[in-house]
Amino acid sequence: MAERVVLAYSGGLDTSVGIGWLKDATGKEVVALAVDVGQGGEDMNAIRQRALDCGAVESVVVDAKDEFANDYLMPALKANALYQKRYPLVSALSRPVIAKHLAQTAKSLGADSVAHGCTGKGNDQVRFEAAVAALAPDLTSLAPVRDFALTRDKAIAYAAEHNLPIEQSKKSPYSVDQNVWGRAVETGFLEDPWNAPIEDIYTYTQDPATSREPSEVTVSFSEGIPVAIDGKPVTPLEAVQLMNTVAGGQGVGRIDIVEDRLVGIKSREVYESPAGIALIAAHEELENMTVERDVARYKRGVEAKWAELVYDGLWFSGLKRALDVFIDDTQRHVTGDIRLKLHAGTAVVTGRRSGESLYDFNLATYDTGDTFDQSLAKGFIELWSLPSKISARRDLAGR
Ligand code: ARG
Repeated sequence: MAERVVLAYSGGLDTSVGIGWLKDATGKEVVALAVDVGQGGEDMNAIRQRALDCGAVESVVVDAKDEFANDYLMPALKANALYQKRYPLVSALSRPVIAKHLAQTAKSLGADSVAHGCTGKGNDQVRFEAAVAALAPDLTSLAPVRDFALTRDKAIAYAAEHNLPIEQSKKSPYSVDQNVWGRAVETGFLEDPWNAPIEDIYTYTQDPATSREPSEVTVSFSEGIPVAIDGKPVTPLEAVQLMNTVAGGQGVGRIDIVEDRLVGIKSREVYESPAGIALIAAHEELENMTVERDVARYKRGVEAKWAELVYDGLWFSGLKRALDVFIDDTQRHVTGDIRLKLHAGTAVVTGRRSGESLYDFNLATYDTGDTFDQSLAKGFIELWSLPSKISARRDLAGR
C-alpha cells in the first residue's frame, strides 16, 4: 500500500494545487482534512468535494467549532491573551486545534506524515509543525508551498493545466485567515505600513465612524467563562458568535499593528476581533473586582508570557501547560456580571457586580459609614518607606 500524507486543506488555490504537488513530489496518497473553526464562507461539503476533485484519495471534514471555543478560546480569554498587548491571537489559536486533528487523522488513517500550505515566512508553519511534533513525534511534516517552491504563479498555471475546479475570480488581493475569534488580513497595499486600511477589507466589523445608537450588553461569567448574555444562557461558542454580532455591529475590535513574527520579520497586520476584544475587556474588569491584588499583578506578567508562547507555536509545551494551571487557579472567583457599552469602535465597561466581589463599599467610601481606619496609614507608610529612607541617608552622607 502506498504511503499516505494528511494535508490541512482550506479549499483555496494553494492547498488545492498542493494535493497534486504532494502526490507528484512524494508518491504518497493525499488525504485532505478540512477543519471547521468557524471560518464561515464556503460550505464545508463543497470544500470536501473539491479536495476529491483535485485528486485526494479521501477527504475528511471535522466540525471543531465547539472544541475550538471551549478548549482554545476560553483559555485565551482567561489569560486575557493579547500579543504585543493588541493582537488576540486569532490565527495562533486555530493552528494547534487544526494540528491536533491532523495528527489524529494521520494516526487513524495510517498516514506517516502531515502537510500544510504555509509559506516559509510566517508563524503558521511553525505552529503546525511544533504542535504536530509535540502530539505525534513520529509524524513527518511536509510543506509543499515552502519546500517545493510552489509560487502563486506556478499554482495558477498548475490549476489551469490540470483543470482543477478553482475559481480565479474569487481571489482577493489580500491574504486572509479567519475563524470565529476573528480575521487576519495581510499583503497587498497593506504592505506599506503608511497606507491606511480601507473599509473593503473588513467583514466582521461595521465602520465605527458611522453614526448609530450605542448597544448595551450584560455578560455573565462563571469562573472566567461567559455563561450568559443578557440573562440568556450560552455556550462558549454561542457567546463568541453573539458578541461578534453585537460588538461587530458597533465597529469594535479593529486592530492595525506592526508585529514581530517569530521568524524575525516585522510585518504589518490588520485584524478584526469584535468578540475577542469585547470579551477580554469584560473579563479583565471582572478580574479587577474579584481577584486579590498580588495575584492580579502577577497574572499580568503570566498573561504576556502565555500570549508569546501561543504566538510562537508552543501551545502544546510544558511551560504553556504549567501557566494554564496557574491561570485556572486565578479564575475560581471570577464569577459575576459585566455591563458593556459598545459604541463607535469601543467596548467600555459601565457596570460590574459579583457575589465574589472583593470591592467593599465601606472600605472604599469617602462618605459616612467608612470602616477604613485612616490612623493606621501613617505607621504603614513609615515602615513601607523605611528602606528608602535608610539608603537615602547613606547615599547623602557619602557625598
Ligand atoms: N500574523 C498573524 C499571526 O501570525 C496572522 C497570520 C495569518 N495567517 C495567514 N495565513 N494569512 O498570527
